[in-house]
Amino acid sequence: MHPFPTIPRHIAIIMDGNGRWAKERGLPRREGHRAGAEAVREVLDACKELGVDYLTLYAFSSENWSRPEAEVQALMTLLDRFLREKAKDLDQKNIRLQAIGQLDRLPAKTRALLDSIIARTAGHTAMTLVLALSYGAREEIVSAARSIATEAAAGTLDPNEVDAALFASHLQTAGIPDPDLLVRTSGEMRLSNFLLWQISYAEIVIVKKNWPDFRHGDLLAAVAEYQHRHRRFGAL
Ligand code: IPE
Ligand code: IPE
Ligand code: MG
Repeated sequence: MHPFPTIPRHIAIIMDGNGRWAKERGLPRREGHRAGAEAVREVLDACKELGVDYLTLYAFSSENWSRPEAEVQALMTLLDRFLREKAKDLDQKNIRLQAIGQLDRLPAKTRALLDSIIARTAGHTAMTLVLALSYGAREEIVSAARSIATEAAAGTLDPNEVDAALFASHLQTAGIPDPDLLVRTSGEMRLSNFLLWQISYAEIVIVKKNWPDFRHGDLLAAVAEYQHRHRRFGAL
């Protein structure tokens, strides 16, 4: 149970601004990504302390593949390192790892590492960390529509049974509650193809800081802002 009922059960974060953070310091972009990976540790701990059940981090979008090859490679190397370093930590902290996105597009070795940590932490119960990797909401929605259409065409699903709950059960986030709070850093006010279906009623908090500067206290401030919102879900 949560210490307070108003702690968001699921926080989703668009970790943006690594490149700008590096540029401001005259550093290569990859240094921004490296610093960004450091910021993840602190936020993960803050969420666990608060009693958040799910933390979803947008780490790499399906559109990010169109960045220069050297940057994509640097990001994949950092992801590998993050996974290797984090595996034991997640285990010790009783945190379960999951991933959403077109994971088959990841390098084979990264994918294997990811799969092994997901399997190893599958029984953990303190919190779930969901990494969105090679993730695009439109691709996810299209893929759900395709699998529903396939079942209908095969005669195993009656099209009249297709409703929002059934649709959601075909998304990669099946079984995960919708995010209550969506945070985006670096001041951008857009969704960039992140969880379009799932964030229908999420409270959105935009933070000016670039992701590598985001700290424990910034997460608490975002949650405090969330706690002052009046969620109506269309009712009064
Ligand atoms: C976010 O930082 C990390 C990824 C998208 C992988 P950016 O790399 O988008 O940084 P900016 O937006 O260029 O500053
Ligand atoms: C969104 O950030 C993707 C991630 C944070 C992983 P981008 O930097 O890729 O988004 P745009 O290009 O500003 O919309
Ligand atoms: Mg960006």
